[in-house]
Amino acid sequence: MARLSLMLTLLVVSAAHAQWSSIQSVDSVAIAGNHISVYAGRSVVHVTMLAEDLVRIRASRNGQFVVDKSVAVVKTDWSLPSMSVDQTPADINVKSSKVWLRIKKQPLRLVFMNAKGEVVNEDDPAKGMAWDGEEIRISKKKPDDEFYYGLGEKAGVMNRTGKSYTMWNSDIPAYRADTDPLYQTVPFFFGIHRGTAYGIFFDNSYWSSFDFGKESPDRYSFGAAGGEINYYFFAGPDPKNILARFTELVGRMPLPPRWSLGYQQCRWSYSPESRVRSLASTFRKKKIPCDVIYLDIDYMEGYRIFTWNKKNFPDPKRMIKDLAGQGFKIAVIVDPGIKVDSSYAVFTSGRDKDVFLKYPDGAPFIGTVWPGNCAFPDFSSPSARKWWGENFSGLVDAGVKGFWNDMNEPSVFDGPNKTVPLHVLHADDGLNTLHTKNHNTYGMQMTKATYDGVRNFLPNERLFLLTRASYAGGQRYSAAWTGDNASRWDNLEMAVSMSLSVGLSGQPFIGSDIGGFIGVPSAELFTRWLQLGVFTPLMRGHSVINSPDKEPWSFGPRHEKINREVIELRYKLLPYIYNSMVQASQSGIPAMRPMLLEYPDDAAFVGEDTQFLFGDDLLIAPVLWPGDTTREVQLPKGNWYDFWTETKFEGGKRIVVPAPIDRIPVFVRAGAIVPTQQLVQYSDQSPINPLSLTVYPAQVSSAVYYEDDGKTLDFEKGVYFQRDHKQTRSDDRLTLELSNSRGTYVPSPRSLHVRFVDVPFRPSKVFVSGTEIGSNQWTYDRVARSVTVRVKDTVASSRLELVW
Ligand code: GLC
Repeated sequence: MARLSLMLTLLVVSAAHAQWSSIQSVDSVAIAGNHISVYAGRSVVHVTMLAEDLVRIRASRNGQFVVDKSVAVVKTDWSLPSMSVDQTPADINVKSSKVWLRIKKQPLRLVFMNAKGEVVNEDDPAKGMAWDGEEIRISKKKPDDEFYYGLGEKAGVMNRTGKSYTMWNSDIPAYRADTDPLYQTVPFFFGIHRGTAYGIFFDNSYWSSFDFGKESPDRYSFGAAGGEINYYFFAGPDPKNILARFTELVGRMPLPPRWSLGYQQCRWSYSPESRVRSLASTFRKKKIPCDVIYLDIDYMEGYRIFTWNKKNFPDPKRMIKDLAGQGFKIAVIVDPGIKVDSSYAVFTSGRDKDVFLKYPDGAPFIGTVWPGNCAFPDFSSPSARKWWGENFSGLVDAGVKGFWNDMNEPSVFDGPNKTVPLHVLHADDGLNTLHTKNHNTYGMQMTKATYDGVRNFLPNERLFLLTRASYAGGQRYSAAWTGDNASRWDNLEMAVSMSLSVGLSGQPFIGSDIGGFIGVPSAELFTRWLQLGVFTPLMRGHSVINSPDKEPWSFGPRHEKINREVIELRYKLLPYIYNSMVQASQSGIPAMRPMLLEYPDDAAFVGEDTQFLFGDDLLIAPVLWPGDTTREVQLPKGNWYDFWTETKFEGGKRIVVPAPIDRIPVFVRAGAIVPTQQLVQYSDQSPINPLSLTVYPAQVSSAVYYEDDGKTLDFEKGVYFQRDHKQTRSDDRLTLELSNSRGTYVPSPRSLHVRFVDVPFRPSKVFVSGTEIGSNQWTYDRVARSVTVRVKDTVASSRLELVW
């Protein structure tokens, strides 16, 4: 794009002028267990079947491979899959129960098939794998009706078909739908063809590009300005399995602290201390729930990282303690730029320990960011990461709970391309390589250093980090947000498509700056954005310096009331939201899910990125356009209940529902058992009591309910509470069975309120574990057509029955 300077453009020789040479015919083959080496002229291709649905391809033009090291991949010890390899004069056939890879020999081309021998993905016959100097490119055939999704954080619509993209982490404020690249690099995508999916992870951190049929309608390709051909093929065919496997390979989000799922308030900057305190008091006085307040760059002394501005924050520890007393956690920003200042201990210790980036001749790289001239830690060096991590002792000691890693593309105001020059050296964990290779991983390595550092000081606490830049697998350390968006309706729309795509690429903990960072939202836009925020994993309001107030109460009394109720909804739904995040941490399936993840074969959902699923059972159709008070919703097959009216709809249809300014359309899957809780002003104000379960009837359905202390790692040792909830319906009864709980966590004594909706007649009797209960313990609401049963919640199994 235009903003990239000549230097970068030169790196990426356009295809038209290129001297591409494709890999040639196979000369010989060596087979060793699950590993096949294929020799073609001077080139060598390594094919490794890691699992029955996962194949790795590595190729070298001249037979030399670089050290096999990836910041993304965490799983390397795969157990040998069941597979076979055989050869004919024309091909080598590598088969498992899930995938059949035919390696054609003349010339060398790869054809991935399913177990039935149907082609799923194949190399472009003319181009295949190719090289031009340092550049590499893989070209594939593109069937007409194949669609592409993924690549993490990309502006514009979620469907990547017919478009091209680049990966070069970049700080581009107020981006638009066609702005590319942005802050993060996740070179992982799905191809979906008539409901059958496969995935490709191109683990290459150099400047890379992807063309999904823009250059030619019957071909797609991906490649990079350097490094190796190194990609993983996920056979699927279910997109959820692909995502589960991908996140097994690159790691999943650790379970976040429960408080990080509350509402978070940020601006550039809440300063001085009195302003922070009055913000906190305003939330409590106005009874608008909130868990987290952020301190942006002005809390520091001249933007020196790991310092406090003594005038504005004379006693941070006391302030943080007082705010904790009101139920607030404090998160602070940390940027990589370390001010060059010989009286600043962080700079001098970094210089003495040799942790900063340098040019090949040994001169330090100095670039300008907020503090002026800065040195930049080389986060690809273990000793620099350790040094960085140790610097967090003061912030942790002051009681800071959230660590916001920003400007880590890295953004350098006066650098070429606004970043570090390409020939600057990085330790690269001992490999000593150039910035060209380390640019896209810089932000992720910063979050690793932060995470590991803070972990040392808080060994049994769940950590919350937020980052702007990242690489594949970054979810292991940090949540992410979509950077400096703008207060425009098209950016609200993109908050959906971008968050969905990020979730689809392995990072479940994502959100956008609510209200838009740059600019002034109307009251309507702010409220609509906040409503969407209830159903994005990260719910954070933020605003640029010198902008008018963008707190939930800043848009007049009518909107203050609406906004309060919106945030209240988030808090009541916390048990459901938390359960969805638990699931994401265990399986890699994000809480905020594109429709295609659950319904890959429903043509109505191709490219659908204006409605989505949240968790297993909620369908969200946010209002994304000014003035709209209705919303079209495409309901998937099955039955769905309107969350607000509890009206039942038959799925597989497009419907229009009312969406007045105080209502975001939400639907609940028939069969859902949705856990909610009492309203609180912050997530751990009081233990859940009552725990409410709303049962949306279906013939039979079940769900798993999970709970723990929400903040420590004790759950890893079995200190959790997990229970199966199962509902069944027959002619004369509705039953909810709760299993014995698993795990050793015992919630404090509480009531359980079970509400059965869509109950047309008053039951004659209600039983709890076989004993009839009195009408003081249950009520029938004739108007709402629901029955609510109130019992004591226990760890032992129980059975609720409504009988007619
Ligand atoms: C960057 C961040 C933004 C922050 C600002 C000041 O623009 O993206 O969120 O407020 O820097 O630190």
